[in-house]
Amino acid sequence: MIDLRSDTVTHPTAAMRDAMMSAPLGDVVLGDDPTVNAFQAMLAERAGKEAALLFPSGTQSNLVGLMAHCERGDEYIAGQSAHTYRYEGGGAAVLGSIQPQPWKTPQTAACHSKKSPPP
Ligand SMILES: Cc1ncc(COP(=O)(O)O)c(C=O)c1O
Repeated sequence: MIDLRSDTVTHPTAAMRDAMMSAPLGDVVLGDDPTVNAFQAMLAERAGKEAALLFPSGTQSNLVGLMAHCERGDEYIAGQSAHTYRYEGGGAAVLGSIQPQPWKTPQTAACHSKKSPPP
């Protein structure tokens, strides 16, 4: 069975670890990391976009996505179990001045009824 709850419940295979160990490296800040540059170019092409940007963490990329779509003082709607709402240190509110508006969804209720009550 493939567990898709989170990236954190999966682990890299030996082939994936080998690919990481042998990947050509460079300085991302200077724009000369060939692996990151190739990855961004591939993603931009697949998404049909002009460019793509790799973020090193999910929290960072979620915050950038929210701040790219919302203005200061806006709300964003999220399920009660959304990672941006329950975790991530309230970054959208603290750093982006974006207010989360949590909605109780059937999926959320079902998810919580198995282990813990909704918050
Ligand atoms: C859906 C989702 N978003 C964001 C994150 C946070 O990712 P990171 O630990 O890379 O900041 C996780 C981590 O489990 C996640 O599952």
